[in-house]
Amino acid sequence: MKIVTKYGSKHIISTIILGFLFVLPKISFSQNLGTTHTLDIKTSEIIEKKVDSVLLLMTLKEKIGQLVLYNGSWDVTGPPSDVGNKEKYQKLKNGEVGAMLNATSVAGTKELQRTVIENSRLKIPLLFGYDVIHGFKTIFPIPLGESASWDLEAIKLSSSIAAKEATASGINWAFGPMVDISRDARWGRIMEGSGEDPFLGSKIAVARIKGFQGDDLSSNHTLAACAKHFAAYGFAEGGRDYNTVSIGAYELHNTVLPPFKAAVEAGVASMMSAFNEIDGIPATAHKELLRDVLKNDWNWNGFIVSDWASIAEMIFHGYVGDKVQAAERAIIAGNDMDMEGRAYEAGLEQLVKAGRVDEKLIDDAAKRILRIKFRLGLFEDPYRYCNEEREKKEIYTKEHLEASRDVARKSIVLLKNDTNVLPLKKDVKHIAVIGSLGADKDSPIGSWRGMATPNSAVSLLEGIKLAVDKTVKVSYAKGVALGMGDRSFVRELKVNRDDFTGIKEAVALAKSAEIVLLTLGEEAFQSGEGRSQVSIELTKPQQRLFDAVYAANKNIVVILMNGRPLAISDIAEKVPSILETWHLGSESGNAIADVLFGDYNPSGKLPVSFPRNVGQVPLYYNVKNTGRPSNPDGMVFWSHYTDEKNEALFPFGHGLSYTTFKYKDLQISAPSFSTGGNIIVSVTVENTGKLKGKEVVQLYLRDLIGSLTRPVKELKGFELIELTAGESKVVTFTINEEIIKYYTANKKWEAESGDFTVFVGGSSQTSLQTDFSFKK
Ligand code: NOJ
Repeated sequence: MKIVTKYGSKHIISTIILGFLFVLPKISFSQNLGTTHTLDIKTSEIIEKKVDSVLLLMTLKEKIGQLVLYNGSWDVTGPPSDVGNKEKYQKLKNGEVGAMLNATSVAGTKELQRTVIENSRLKIPLLFGYDVIHGFKTIFPIPLGESASWDLEAIKLSSSIAAKEATASGINWAFGPMVDISRDARWGRIMEGSGEDPFLGSKIAVARIKGFQGDDLSSNHTLAACAKHFAAYGFAEGGRDYNTVSIGAYELHNTVLPPFKAAVEAGVASMMSAFNEIDGIPATAHKELLRDVLKNDWNWNGFIVSDWASIAEMIFHGYVGDKVQAAERAIIAGNDMDMEGRAYEAGLEQLVKAGRVDEKLIDDAAKRILRIKFRLGLFEDPYRYCNEEREKKEIYTKEHLEASRDVARKSIVLLKNDTNVLPLKKDVKHIAVIGSLGADKDSPIGSWRGMATPNSAVSLLEGIKLAVDKTVKVSYAKGVALGMGDRSFVRELKVNRDDFTGIKEAVALAKSAEIVLLTLGEEAFQSGEGRSQVSIELTKPQQRLFDAVYAANKNIVVILMNGRPLAISDIAEKVPSILETWHLGSESGNAIADVLFGDYNPSGKLPVSFPRNVGQVPLYYNVKNTGRPSNPDGMVFWSHYTDEKNEALFPFGHGLSYTTFKYKDLQISAPSFSTGGNIIVSVTVENTGKLKGKEVVQLYLRDLIGSLTRPVKELKGFELIELTAGESKVVTFTINEEIIKYYTANKKWEAESGDFTVFVGGSSQTSLQTDFSFKK
């Protein structure tokens, strides 16, 4: 379809902005994402003036239009094919829609933008939102996997490449990052976050936002980010998606909110409210959280979008009787935009006219959205992301795939390597790849895969073949099928889970091979939205396959591919080597081969605890001590399970290398400090093995006595270092008042005087420790 772009920036601005704005100098809407999250004062003042000027021209209906977000997955480049689409086009023409989601491609977004620009009275450009979660077309590891890299530069790079590809395809708003802390492996969306820890989660949130938004939101290669889901979505009861959340103020403020606060400080453009209720109030209309905490206490001027239809879903929550009432509650609470809920368009106008909603609230919501549109530079050029040449050149490039491979190998965690089976020698004679995931070109792309082409990942089998010499025999046996690898939103088992016939062939192959690479885990769509499970063990056929193959050949490396922590105690007890490879993205097979053959020395650390049994969840390292933490007299009256240990199978922060690291000389610059001061903790890390390697040096604190009980350990610092064999490095951390602050009994974020223990090491189970105290 030929699209003629008639309206350039000057035309639109002259149509809608009051005359005095023309005398303003042309500015670039640069955004400083360093220590401060605000635009420079002059720039933001100019934007505010422009926003106010536009608002002055708008009718109530047009303002409400800005608060409406429509889904656009229909054939946008052709004529509207049904009544629904005709209606949508009409609303676009009327200026009754402010943003679209799921409309991709330059042709598609241009068509929609043109509909608005050429027909609506005020020609206010649309935002185009999309779930850019771990890549757009070039796919990076699932967010949980990528978090295992603890490499903030790598994470930022992956988001910036995703932004580059998405903006080349017409998108200017990413529904990411998801910053929900989760400690429940049953929850399917645990794959989409950065794990269980608020400190690590905050750092990763900032890295992703900086990757998406860059230093300049008006650049053609950056887009507006959206931190989601505000709040506590990862604390759904029983790990069941969308389920009720009951959470106290302590956990809410100390665990759930910190990554959102960090997102605000990083200048995040938008946030998405969550589907769940919190203690009786749907998050969508949670005034205390949305308006009081986020907008007022944190002084944030971005906009809040609801989740899909979550405003209208308050009817099902039993919180409101109809869409009008839903709209009333949501707008009063501070929810600015309605995603496909059709509640704002149904209710807001009449609510304002009836005096039930103050028009100032509509103004505030519209202004927040217009502000981001100005910062993106859309008023200057609404077609700035609609460049066909760019779309052809800048998506799925060699450079992006290379970056994806690098981030993928950094995300792999070596869980176990007892007899140093790994790294493999490249002159091995016969390698057997067993398990359906081994040849699977789709599952490594994972859930929330953007515009990825199905079956486009490099499989493990392909990666191995590419890595070794032609003389090495590489064979494959499927063993058993998993049958969940379907993108369809209907959860339907596609295979007979009682079919064990393939095991025979797998066993024969295992017997003949020198080394077995056994892939176990989950297909792409076993995790993700709506994919909660009561079981986190391997499926019965997979367990049978493991038993049979292990009996046939003990020289075995288990390669896990999964979107959630799995309970694999039995396997962990038996096999010497286990690699956690998550769903690694487009270059999965190559990245795994890099690690298997030692071309990359694994450096990943778990961002989430791996339970021994599903009965342990929620499981996390930063627990409270309880009043009965141990059993000095061997009696049962202490906090434990009688049939399983309390501890994780693989703890948070755990991950091995092909070399070894020794921690020694933990020192502290002074035994105490007070307000305004600090102390320096230093530790010497030595590479005691034979290979160069990377290590994530982790610092944890314990606040011994608080006005509220404190966790036994909390991550408060980490540094990724690289050491050659035999090399030592002194790593230092600064401890100041800011680091020891928490949400106290005073309902304030503050530090309390007292004694602390500091732990430093290569996992949350480190034992190297010393003490200090703090006085206010
Ligand atoms: C629902 C999901 O919860 C949210 O994360 C996503 O951004 C929207 N759907 C839009 O796809």
